[in-house]
Amino acid sequence: MTDPVRVTLEGTDDSTSVRVYGDEGDVSTGDATFRFSVDGDREGDSSDDRADDRSADADGKNDDPRRIVPLADVPTNGTLRCEARCDRRGTELILRRDGSDVSAWRNSCPHKPEVRLDPGTGAIVRDDQLVCHEHGARFECDDGVCTAGPCRGDALETVAVAVRDGAVYLTDDRFDSCRRLDDRRA
Ligand code: FES
Repeated sequence: MTDPVRVTLEGTDDSTSVRVYGDEGDVSTGDATFRFSVDGDREGDSSDDRADDRSADADGKNDDPRRIVPLADVPTNGTLRCEARCDRRGTELILRRDGSDVSAWRNSCPHKPEVRLDPGTGAIVRDDQLVCHEHGARFECDDGVCTAGPCRGDALETVAVAVRDGAVYLTDDRFDSCRRLDDRRA
């Protein structure tokens, strides 16, 4: 498999969406698990791809696979799209900066998890709230709780990140690495 595939599994009460890079794997939500195996030439899933995934940022300091971006690259009036990985599974994240703090969430609307809040050009930020472009749900930028819209009371899934030495690092134990997915690198 040369290109990642986005897999969404919808259960009765929940759904989850991930990007899959390998020829086999599984996606789970609630009690349901979807397992798959694809025959194919794995040469395309080359070490070049993986090396590129971890390629250095513009400042050339991305030896640490958990280092995501320089702090200054994270917007305040929008979001930056990234991808965290665990083994061969990728999960899209969005980052938003508030001064020297950065928050990160899964790039997925609680109303319809297959809908990205940030399709690649940055999520809408209005009055210090994230706004879903699909049906207008609004989310607090601190705790991610939806204050208005069809999923009011639900919350964005938070992902742990930390700022140190002027850069943003993934600190969430569910993932091994993270890379940015803006237009330059998508
Ligand atoms: S998909 Fe986001 S509010 Fe409906």
